Amino acid sequence: MSLRIIVVLAVLTGISGSPSVTVGPEADSADTRAHPNSVPETVEKTEILGQQEVIVQEKAEENVMATGELNINHYPARRAAHVVQHYLNTLYGSPYRLLQLHKIHRGNAEDVSDSERKYELEISVQELIGNTTGKCSAEILFPRGERQRSPQVQASCEELLKINTKAQEEALYQQYKMNSGLLSAQNLPDSYGHIEPDMKPFWHLSIVAASFVMLNESSENTLYNMAQVANITQLATENDQLKFDCHILLHEMVSQEIIHWKLLFTWSPPDGVKVLQMEQLPHRHEGEIPPNTN
Ligand SMILES: *[C@@H]1O[C@H](CO)[C@@H](O)[C@H](O)[C@H]1NC(C)=O
Ligand SMILES: *[C@@H]1O[C@H](CO)[C@@H](O)[C@H](O)[C@H]1NC(C)=O
Ligand SMILES: *[C@@H]1O[C@H](CO)[C@@H](O)[C@H](O)[C@H]1NC(C)=O
Repeated sequence: MSLRIIVVLAVLTGISGSPSVTVGPEADSADTRAHPNSVPETVEKTEILGQQEVIVQEKAEENVMATGELNINHYPARRAAHVVQHYLNTLYGSPYRLLQLHKIHRGNAEDVSDSERKYELEISVQELIGNTTGKCSAEILFPRGERQRSPQVQASCEELLKINTKAQEEALYQQYKMNSGLLSAQNLPDSYGHIEPDMKPFWHLSIVAASFVMLNESSENTLYNMAQVANITQLATENDQLKFDCHILLHEMVSQEIIHWKLLFTWSPPDGVKVLQMEQLPHRHEGEIPPNTN
């Protein structure tokens, strides 16, 4: 009896693991173009290719899949975990500190009222620049129906912020605070996926600013990634913040849309990133707006 169960489990694991085995080289290059960023490719690849199939399944079995213990390889857990990533970047991100989902260990989802759903996740998060990894426990509350409310996140992490980035941040700040020439850059990364070393801090800074948008725009049915900075321009300020005007491209992986946003944000080492304005630009694909009700 118990032996039979083990055999069935083994077969199921084999099946759910198969999409990542079928990843082909053409898909690789297509994906690298779509995501010319520093995110490890293997994770994203699997996501994109598995996407259509998984979405179809989710539509059919939405209630079964998204409630109770979650399969950590399926999209409900992954989408919620990305919201935690955006949240952590809004709190701790800097030109020298960028957090990224590394692994999902466990997940659970439940309806907590008619209007909210709660996810509880155990994940590992990686700090990309210093290359440290730490575990986080997180709770994500998604409002149902109302599109304008963003998810509420709580997270506690260990070991993540060990590396002190103060000296690097202060040096960058002083360099660009002088205002001798205001920064202006286009296409981070360029179409070859390349970013000049001295522009990398601004790519990271833009991802942090974008995280405010991605957090605010996320729902249970979205999966946002930063795709590119079309341009970023430093503006003169009278106060002690550096100020930037920035045009970014986000990739929403469920609808496969590239979405353009214009952001106005400030940064300084003690105050971090503050987004003053965010505006979505009418640059969408043909596709329709993702459904907002369940
Ligand atoms: C990050 O650290 C892990 C082990 O701690 C190592 O295996 C990996 O190669 C490192 N990655 C980079 C990009 O340095
Ligand atoms: C999220 O976006 C909505 C709609 O643009 C806006 O009203 C709201 O203030 C934003 N929330 C946050 C936390 O930025
Ligand atoms: C920034 O890039 C966008 C998209 O390519 C473009 O429409 C806009 O004119 C650019 N703005 C500046 C200031 O270069």
